Amino acid sequence: MRNKITVIGAGNVGANCAVWAAKKELGDIVLVDVAEGVPQGKGLDLLQAGPVEHYDVNITGANDYAPTANSDVIIITAGFPRKPGMSRDDLLLANYEVVKAATEKAAAVSPKAVIIVVTNPLDAMAQVAYMVSGFPKNRVIGMAGVLDSARFRTFIAQELQVSVDNVTAVVLGGHGDTMVPVVRLSSVAGIPLTELIPADRLAAIVDRTRNGGAEIVKYLKTGSAYYAPAASAVEMAESILRDKKKVLPCAAYLEGEYGIKGLYVGVPCKLGAGGIEKIYEIALTAEETTALHKSSGAVQELVDVIKTKMV
Ligand code: NAI
Ligand code: 2OP
Repeated sequence: MRNKITVIGAGNVGANCAVWAAKKELGDIVLVDVAEGVPQGKGLDLLQAGPVEHYDVNITGANDYAPTANSDVIIITAGFPRKPGMSRDDLLLANYEVVKAATEKAAAVSPKAVIIVVTNPLDAMAQVAYMVSGFPKNRVIGMAGVLDSARFRTFIAQELQVSVDNVTAVVLGGHGDTMVPVVRLSSVAGIPLTELIPADRLAAIVDRTRNGGAEIVKYLKTGSAYYAPAASAVEMAESILRDKKKVLPCAAYLEGEYGIKGLYVGVPCKLGAGGIEKIYEIALTAEETTALHKSSGAVQELVDVIKTKMV
């Protein structure tokens, strides 16, 4: 039987998730959105690209959740994107309601699915999906680290004029200005970054990575990034559906790892058929630990606000 992927939110990120997933033939795809006709129209349009792009999966759209039943992976992109001058955190309460409703409805008809949350503010929204779905923690994952490390890798490759394939980068923490690109553990074909790039340039690259989302919002003016975010969510879905066991930075529910308890924060994870199959706890320096805890503190503040809404 083919895999089934539900993408909730047929906007910029959701539609592009469907594009990447179809191109990789990850499974049949159901797009869901509150906007009448939009998921149906985009689904049909994308289906008709199949003969040209040589993929053979079914793609449909719906405004309700019945057609999503028994999905293997649910990608939640529904919500409002960040506008210029708006922080990710401004989105908190509006997107809380959206993610809560989407999770309740989707989880009820696909009780065995793995949920990948994309909606911002990311780490807090992953926590909402975890609390609302009642799924085990390994089956609710947030997408941010794949995107943030892809940006870090891109900037390093540009700086050194080398292939991005050679660049590995570690980014920890929440998806926000406090994220922690770990220079010490990032390399080019195994060569430490610190031996290749002077400290001041490295600091500028780290800063650009932290502001990678805002840089694109500034250009687009009416929305936020979507090609790289969608590709990142689909890389996670692929690792799960094909049981590839890739080690990717994901927002995971921590229960003491890195000294963080009861909170979704970005850490390196092994993704396979079971969702998160392992969380890697790397030994950090005191400075890195302080930065990670500052970042998790920012996530905790948002989660505390949400918890007052939930009681
Ligand atoms: P968009 O505005 O293009 O699409 C959002 C879609 O959600 C719209 O089509 C809207 O009709 C739909 N929607 C709203 N409420 C809904 C509901 N209750 N049920 C179903 N659908 C609903 O926005 P875009 O650019 O696709 O971004 C989506 C979200 O992803 C935003 O919150 C954005 O901040 C976030 N994002 C997160 C990233 C990450 O790294 N985690 C990266 C990029 C975007
Ligand atoms: C990004 O980093 C908006 O979170 C989104 O592009």
